[in-house]
Amino acid sequence: MKLASIGVTALFTLASADTILDNLARDVSRVESIREVKDVQRSFAHLAQFGRFHDATTLFTTNATFIWGNVTTTGRSAIENFLNTHTGDMNGRESGSLNTLVIENPVVSLSVDGQSAKARWNGLRFAGDGKGGSWIEGGIYENQYVRAETGWRIALLHYHALYEGTYEDGWRNVGGRGIPVIPYHFTPEGSGVPIPPPVGDASPTNASLSNLELRIKRLNDEDEVRNLMHAHGYYVDRRMWTDVVELHTNKTKVTITGQGTYNGLDGARQALERMGPEGLTTGVNNDHPIFDTLVQVNPDGQRAIARGIEIAMRGDANSKTASWEFNVFRNNFIKENGIWKVKVVETTPLIVADYYKGWGNSGTNTPTGYLPPFLNVGSFREAGLPSSNGTSNATYEDVQRRLRRSAAYDGTENQSHAYGHIIDDIDCARMGALFATRAHKASPFAGFFITPQRITDACLASYGTNRSTLPSSVFFHWRPQPVILASHDGRSATLRARLLQPSTSVAKAGSFNSAMYHDQVVLENGRWRLWSVTIDEFYWQSSSWAAGWANPRPRNASQPDPAPAGWIKKFPPDVTIAEVGEREAGFRGGAGKFVEWPEIQRMWFGYRNLVSGRVPSGDKVGFWEGCVPCRVRPEWALEANGWQQPGAGPGGNGTVRAR
Ligand SMILES: *[C@@H]1O[C@H](CO)[C@@H](O)[C@H](O)[C@H]1NC(C)=O
Ligand SMILES: *[C@@H]1O[C@H](CO)[C@@H](O)[C@H](O)[C@H]1NC(C)=O
Ligand SMILES: *[C@@H]1O[C@H](CO)[C@@H](O)[C@H](O)[C@H]1NC(C)=O
Ligand SMILES: *[C@@H]1O[C@H](CO)[C@@H](O)[C@H](O)[C@H]1NC(C)=O
Ligand SMILES: *[C@@H]1O[C@H](CO)[C@@H](O)[C@H](O)[C@H]1NC(C)=O
Ligand SMILES: *[C@@H]1O[C@H](CO)[C@@H](O)[C@H](O)[C@H]1NC(C)=O
Ligand SMILES: *[C@@H]1O[C@H](CO)[C@@H](O)[C@H](O)[C@H]1NC(C)=O
Ligand SMILES: *[C@@H]1O[C@H](CO)[C@@H](O)[C@H](O)[C@H]1NC(C)=O
Ligand SMILES: *[C@@H]1O[C@H](CO)[C@@H](O)[C@H](O)[C@H]1NC(C)=O
Ligand SMILES: *[C@@H]1O[C@H](CO)[C@@H](O)[C@H](O)[C@H]1NC(C)=O
Repeated sequence: MKLASIGVTALFTLASADTILDNLARDVSRVESIREVKDVQRSFAHLAQFGRFHDATTLFTTNATFIWGNVTTTGRSAIENFLNTHTGDMNGRESGSLNTLVIENPVVSLSVDGQSAKARWNGLRFAGDGKGGSWIEGGIYENQYVRAETGWRIALLHYHALYEGTYEDGWRNVGGRGIPVIPYHFTPEGSGVPIPPPVGDASPTNASLSNLELRIKRLNDEDEVRNLMHAHGYYVDRRMWTDVVELHTNKTKVTITGQGTYNGLDGARQALERMGPEGLTTGVNNDHPIFDTLVQVNPDGQRAIARGIEIAMRGDANSKTASWEFNVFRNNFIKENGIWKVKVVETTPLIVADYYKGWGNSGTNTPTGYLPPFLNVGSFREAGLPSSNGTSNATYEDVQRRLRRSAAYDGTENQSHAYGHIIDDIDCARMGALFATRAHKASPFAGFFITPQRITDACLASYGTNRSTLPSSVFFHWRPQPVILASHDGRSATLRARLLQPSTSVAKAGSFNSAMYHDQVVLENGRWRLWSVTIDEFYWQSSSWAAGWANPRPRNASQPDPAPAGWIKKFPPDVTIAEVGEREAGFRGGAGKFVEWPEIQRMWFGYRNLVSGRVPSGDKVGFWEGCVPCRVRPEWALEANGWQQPGAGPGGNGTVRAR
C-alpha cells in the first residue's frame, strides 16, 4: 500500500492507515453483498424461465428450505423435484411452453456481521403449456440468504401465494379470501439504513487500495449500465426513436432473434420502426416493461452485458387489438470517452400472443430454440478482478465518495420498494415514516403534502381508513425499471420508476394499469428517506381483464373534466395539482384539459439523454428537472435544504471515470 500518496482526511487521523484500508475493504464488500443477493435471486428467475431447475438449485444452499404457498421442501434435489412437478408442462423447456417468472421490487437487509441477508420481493409467474393450458400466479417473497464460501446463496425461499388463475378466467385471490399482510422482515425506520453499521474491527484485508478502487469503479459502471438499459426501455415505450438511437454507439447492431439483424445507427432505427413511426398517437400503447436486469461488467471496465426479461404489453385502441410479448434481452455496452453506450441489442422473443386469445396455445411466434446465454453471476464480484497492486493517487475521501454513490443506488432502490410494499398494505403511518422531516408527496388527483405527519394524514384521508385486516382487493405498487442518478457526494438521488399495477380481488379478475413515479431520496441522519414523491397516473388502464388495455371505455366529450379528489375539501393539500401548473396540466385535478387513455398523456422525464445530453423532446414529451412542485415552492428543493441536486445528464454528475 502506498500511504505516501494517500490524502488522509481529518476524519481518519486517529486511525492507522491499515485500519482505514481494512474498513474500506469491509465497506466495499458490504455494498457488493447487497448486489450479489439481488443477483442470485434474479438469476433464479432467468434460469426458471427456461426450465433450468437443476442449475437453479445450485443458487441455493445444500439444505435450503423452499416454501411455495402451502408446500414446503428442503434440499436441492427436493426443490428441483418440486419445481418440475409444480410447473408440469408449463416449464419453459419445451417449445411453446412459457414459464416467465418475474421477481422484482427488492428490499434487501444485510445482517450486522455481513454474513446473511433477508429480502422481500413481489413475484408474478406467467405460464402456459402450448396446448391450451395457462396459469398466472402472483405473491410476495420473504427470503433469506447466506454468504457461502464461493458466493451468496438462497437459504430460504418463501413465496406467499396471493392470487392465481387461468388466462381465460383471469386471476383472483388465492382461496377466495381477503389478502393478508405478509409479515415484514423490516421496519420503516430501518428501511433506509443503507448498510447496517458493522460491529467490531474489520478483519485485516490483503486487498490493495487500487484493487478496492477498481471494485468501486465496477460498481459505479454497473449503475450507469443499468440506468442506460432502463432509460433505453422508457424511450422505446414512447417510440422516441431519436432518443433511443442516440444511446447507441456508431457501430451498433440490433438483432431480433429469428427475424433479422440491423447494422449501424440507421439499422437500429429501422429495427425500431418495425414497431411504428416515431411518437405515440391516440390509442397506441407500446409499453415494454423490463424486469430482473442483471449487469456484468468486464474486468477491463470497457464492456458490459445486461440480461433480463421484457414483457411487452402493446395495443391499439383504434383497432382494439393488443398483444403480449415475452422477450429476453441480452444487450452489450461499450464505454467510449468515459460514457457508456449501447453496442448490441439482442432481443429474443419467446412467445408473442394476441391479448384476446392468450399465450396458452403458444402464440404466433415461431420459436427458434435459441437460448440467450446466462450471465455468470453467483460468485463474488471481486473474484473476476485483478488484485492489482499498482499505486493509486486517489484520496481515500474520493474513493469513499465514489463508493457512497453506488451505496446510494441500492439505498434509493430499497426505499422505493419499501414504499411500494407498505402502501400495498395501506399502512399510512408506516408509509409516512419512510419520509424525511421536510419531505413532500403527491396524493393522486389532489396535491402535495409536506412533512411525514401530513403525508400520513393525507393517506388516511384519501383511503378513508387504515386497511382492514383482510381487504378483498389490492392494487399492488410495483416499481420496476429504476433509473437512479446519485448526486456527486452520494447523499441524494433522483429516481424514475414505473408504476406497474396488477390488481387482485375476491370476486373479479385482476388486471394491469401503468403510471410513472418521479422521486427524490436523501440521506438524513444516516438513513435514506424519501424527499419527494410524485405519481403521474395513468398512462393506460385496463377496463377489465377480459377487455384489456385496448378497449377503454370512451369518454363522453360533453362531460366536464373530472374534479380533483373530493376529500381535499376536508384535508386541503399544501400545494394543489392545479397550482403546479404546466407540469401537472393533463392529469386529473391539473390546470389544463384532462387527458385520459386512449388519449396520449404527456410523458415527463427528469433527465437528459444519458449519452447525447439532448433534452427529450416531442409532441407528448416533457422535461422537468428537480422536484415537481419546486418551481412554485423553491424552498422545497434539495439544494434549499442542504442536499445536492443530482446531475441529470450523461453519467449523472461526478463519476470519476476510468481512464
Ligand atoms: C444448513 O446447514 C448449515 C451449515 O451446516 C447450518 O448452519 C444451518 O443451520 C442449516 N440450515 C438448516 C435450515 O438446517
Ligand atoms: C394449496 O394451495 C393451492 C392453491 O395455491 C390449493 O389449490 C390447494 O388445495 C392447497 N392445498 C392444501 C392441502 O391446502
Ligand atoms: C434496506 O432496508 C432494510 C430494511 O430495514 C435495511 O435493513 C437495509 O439495510 C436497507 N438496505 C439498503 C441497501 O438500503
Ligand atoms: C488474500 O490472500 C489469500 C491468501 O493468499 C487469498 O486466498 C485471497 O484471494 C487474497 N484476497 C485478495 C482480496 O487478494
Ligand atoms: C460517430 O459518427 C459521427 C458521424 O459520422 C461522428 O461525427 C462521430 O465522431 C462518431 N463518434 C465516434 C465516437 O466515433
Ligand atoms: C504486484 O507487484 C509486483 C512488484 O511490482 C509484481 O511483480 C506483481 O506482478 C504485481 N502483482 C499484480 C497482481 O499486479
Ligand atoms: C493521477 O495520476 C494520473 C497520472 O499521473 C493523472 O493523470 C491524474 O490526473 C491523477 N489523478 C488525480 C485524481 O490526481
Ligand atoms: C392506523 O394504524 C396505526 C397503526 O399502524 C394507528 O396508530 C392509527 O391510529 C390508525 N389510524 C386510524 C385512523 O385508524
Ligand atoms: C354525454 O353527456 C351529456 C351531458 O351530460 C349527456 O347529455 C349525454 O347523454 C351523454 N352521452 C352519452 C352517450 O352518455
Ligand atoms: C458535480 O457536482 C459537484 C458538487 O455539486 C460540483 O462541484 C461539480 O462541479 C459538478 N461537476 C460536473 C461535471 O457537473
